[in-house]
Amino acid sequence: MAISDDVFVGAIDQGTTSSRFLIFNKDGEPVASHSVEFKQIYPKPGWHEHDPLEIISSVEECIAKAVEKFEQAGNPLIRIKAVGITNQRETTVVWDKQTGEPLNNAIVWTDTRTQQLTRELKKRPGADKLLELCGLPISTYPSVGKLLWMIENVPKVKAAYEKGNLAFGTIDTWLVYKLNGGPQKDVFVSDPTNASRTMFMNLKTLQYDDTLLEFFSLDAKNVHLPKIVHSSDPKAYGCLESGPLKGVHITGCLGDQSAALVGQKGFSPGKAKNTYGTGCFLLYNVGEKPVISRHGLLATVAYDFGDKPIYALEGSIAVAGQGVKFLQQNLNFIASSSKISELANTVEDNGGVVFVTAFSGLFAPYWIDDAQGTIFGITQHTQQGHIARATLEATCYQTKAILDAMEKDSGQTLAELAVDGGMSNSDLCMQTQADLIGIPVDRPAMRETTALGAAIAAGFAVGVWKDFDELNNINTQGRTVFRPKMLKEASAKMFARWTKAVDMSRGWTG
Ligand code: G3P
Repeated sequence: MAISDDVFVGAIDQGTTSSRFLIFNKDGEPVASHSVEFKQIYPKPGWHEHDPLEIISSVEECIAKAVEKFEQAGNPLIRIKAVGITNQRETTVVWDKQTGEPLNNAIVWTDTRTQQLTRELKKRPGADKLLELCGLPISTYPSVGKLLWMIENVPKVKAAYEKGNLAFGTIDTWLVYKLNGGPQKDVFVSDPTNASRTMFMNLKTLQYDDTLLEFFSLDAKNVHLPKIVHSSDPKAYGCLESGPLKGVHITGCLGDQSAALVGQKGFSPGKAKNTYGTGCFLLYNVGEKPVISRHGLLATVAYDFGDKPIYALEGSIAVAGQGVKFLQQNLNFIASSSKISELANTVEDNGGVVFVTAFSGLFAPYWIDDAQGTIFGITQHTQQGHIARATLEATCYQTKAILDAMEKDSGQTLAELAVDGGMSNSDLCMQTQADLIGIPVDRPAMRETTALGAAIAAGFAVGVWKDFDELNNINTQGRTVFRPKMLKEASAKMFARWTKAVDMSRGWTG
C-alpha cells in the first residue's frame, strides 16, 4: 500500500450526544474517524446531565479506534502534527482542584433546573447592564446558573467552594485538563469562544470581569476559573499524556458552533452558517467589534487566532435533532434519526400541525424560559408523518425568526445560508428552510465542518496551513443548493401560524 507523505491533523469533537475523533489531511478531507454515543442522564423533568468521566473515556476510545483505522490505511502516526478540540458549549463541570475528581455530574446546556434562579437574577440591580458586557441575556442557558446551582445545592461542591478548592470548567477545559493527565500538569485553560458562554467574560477584554462576578456573588478567590488563551496556540493547551497519540500537542480549541463557522470558512464579515445538531445555531460573522443585539440574539466570540478576535451574532435554538430523537426514542415513530425524512415524506404537508419543540423553554430570539413543548392542530386526520414534518419545520421557523432579528440588528440581508449538521442531511428539511427564509440554502458534501474547524485552528498553530487563502479549495466540490420554491404568501402564512403557536406555548411551567 502506498504511504502518503501528507501531514494530518486530528480533531476531537465532543458534542451533546456523541464524542468523535476525526483525522484530516491538508485538503481538509477526513481520512479516518470514530464516534461513540454516551449516556444522557435525565434525573427529573427539565434536568439533563452527563458523567464527566464517561465523556473522557468516550473521547479516548474514539482517538484509539480512529488512529487504528488511520494506521491500517498505511499512514504513519508521526504525520499527525497536532490535535484540535471542539465541544458542546455552556455545559458545566466542577472538580476538586487538588485531586481532579469531578464533584457532580456535568449540567448540560439544555438543562432548565435554574428557571427559578434565573427569574431571581433578572430582578437584581444591574441585571440590565450584563448584555452589554458579556453579550448574553440572563437565561437557563449559560454556564453561570449551573455553577451557582451546584454551589447552592450540592454539599460537596459547596464545601470545595468554601475551602477555595473548586475548579470550574466548560467541556473544553475539562478535556484539556484530563487529556494532559489532570492535577500533575494542571493545564487549566479555556478559549474565548467557550469562555464567552459562561457570562463571566467581558466580550471586549476577553478576560473575566469583576462586575460580572460580583453581580453573580461569586468570589474569585473561592472558585478557580481557567486561564483564557487564544483559540489557536502551539503551547497553551499542552499535549496528550496517554494513548496512541501520547506527546502530540493540542494546539486548537473552539466551541462547536464557532468551529463550524471556521469549517465553513466564514472568515469575512457577513458570512453565516447554520448548524442543525442537537440544537441549531446560526452564527453570523460581524468582524472585529462585537455587535450587541437588541432583538434577542447573542453576541459571542467567533474565533481568536491571535491577531484580533473576530465576533459573531448568534441565534441559538435549543431543540433541532433532539426533536427528531424525541420522535424516535420517546414516541417510537422511527427506528433511527436518519428515517425522519422518509416518515415526513409520507404526507404532502404538515396537515395544519405546528410543534413548538420548547423542551428547554425557547431560546433565540424569543427567550421564553417557561414555554414547554406543545403540539397544536391535531385532528382525526393527523398522522405520524404530519408530526414528523412539524418537528423539522419547528427548527426552520426559528431560523427564520433569527434571520429576521439578525437583519434588524445588522441592517444587512443575508444572500444565502451555509448549512451543516445531522438534520441538514434531510433534503425535505433544507427545502423547507429555503422556502421559509426566501434565500438559497447551501449544503457542503463533506458535513464534518465542526471537526474541520477544530483541525483548522490546530493546524494554523503548527503551520499545516498558514493563511485563510490556503483553505480556498477545501470542501468546494459537490455542494447542493436548495432554492426557494414556495410562494411568499404561503410561507408567510405558515410563519404567522408558528408565531401564534409560540405565544400560546408560554407559561406552562410558570
Ligand atoms: O451551545 C450548545 C451547543 O454548543 C451544542 O451543540 O452540536 O450539540 O447541538 P450541538
